[in-house]
Amino acid sequence: MYKINTNYQKLPGSYLFSNIAKKVAAFQEANPDKEIIRLGIGDVTRPLTNSVIDALHKAVDEMGDADTFRGYAPDLGYDFLRDAICKWDYVRRGCDIAADEIFVSDGAKSDSGNIQELFATDNKIAVCDPVYPVYVDSNVMGGRCGNYDSTLEKWSDIIYMPTTAENGFVPEFPKETPDIIYLCFPNNPTGTTITKAQLQEWVDYANKNGCLIIYDAAYEAYISEEDVAHSIYECEGAKTCAIEIRSFSKNAGFTGVRLGFTVVPKELKCDGVSLHDMWARRHGTKFNGAPYIIQRAGEAVYSEAGQKEVQELVGYYMNNAKTIREGLKDAGFEVYGGVNAPYIWMKTPDKMTSWEFFDYLLENACVVGTPGSGFGPSGEHYFRLTAFGTLEKSKKALERIKNL
Ligand SMILES: Cc1ncc(COP(=O)(O)O)c(C=O)c1O
Repeated sequence: MYKINTNYQKLPGSYLFSNIAKKVAAFQEANPDKEIIRLGIGDVTRPLTNSVIDALHKAVDEMGDADTFRGYAPDLGYDFLRDAICKWDYVRRGCDIAADEIFVSDGAKSDSGNIQELFATDNKIAVCDPVYPVYVDSNVMGGRCGNYDSTLEKWSDIIYMPTTAENGFVPEFPKETPDIIYLCFPNNPTGTTITKAQLQEWVDYANKNGCLIIYDAAYEAYISEEDVAHSIYECEGAKTCAIEIRSFSKNAGFTGVRLGFTVVPKELKCDGVSLHDMWARRHGTKFNGAPYIIQRAGEAVYSEAGQKEVQELVGYYMNNAKTIREGLKDAGFEVYGGVNAPYIWMKTPDKMTSWEFFDYLLENACVVGTPGSGFGPSGEHYFRLTAFGTLEKSKKALERIKNL
């Protein structure tokens, strides 16, 4: 008789955002005339830009002509896209990354969930707390996290690195040395980041202790401060200890289009075994490449016009972030993030739990945010608002919150 992967049964409850969706749907059903403003899920709202749309149209036409039709894409990505990424995201920033170290995929979620397959089940992982849930859940599925303690809201075999207002949202080196460290900067959910010097300390720590860093830079385009690294490979020695994951979702609005990439340097070796070769082998076996038309759209993001459009998109959302951040501050809330990332991380008022504040905000202001505790125990008493809405709705939500 067949057997299932029982690690799936260890996963508690359903995914954070489905819980929120259920609550919001129930509220809307009970209050059909109320206008709900959704600043919960981190999905973009602005349309695709002109360069991207033009590239998509052109590529679609090519697919309709026998002379230019393309079938399966190369499973690691078309050279035109890998070269563009290499030039714009790495060479331009002084990072010594080659185009064939870039693996094109259908997004950062898939890559950050799939990457754990390369590693033995007895690796100990460390995550920031709060954390983007995919790193934890995918490792649970892989049988790497022990058991879930619902009282502590923690997994027995995960090393948690709290990032709270007390430590300025900068993770400290854990007492127990991990094998694999997940870092995400600028951070989802806290909207905060660390400096390049602080990231360098993590790279040095990883190289010294034989750890691997899985660095999620999905929000890189939102960095506004000079001393923040756009890529971990800006740090010396990162090529021997770090994998970097990137996305086209937040810079170019590809959440519904799907495109991302992962950088695995050739120098990255575990006991002489190349992780680059392993990831290439995995891609070749399990992935048939991102669609041609989408990769052409991705290439357009790196044109001069495309880069200008990215700046405009990011600027639009960061104006929302500023509006929300400053407005909440003026209203007396304790607020973090929103300077190098499109998330505002606020302390709940009056010691409310994150879910109490979620209900309070939904019922009294018809505004949806995300309870901080959904991202980990250290997220309790925090609440996340995204800047991905429209400016009008961001302003309206803020007015309602101010009037509570
Ligand atoms: C930290 C982080 N990584 C990855 C992703 C997913 O990116 P993609 O749309 O490329 O799958 C998200 C999406 O919210 C995210 O917050």
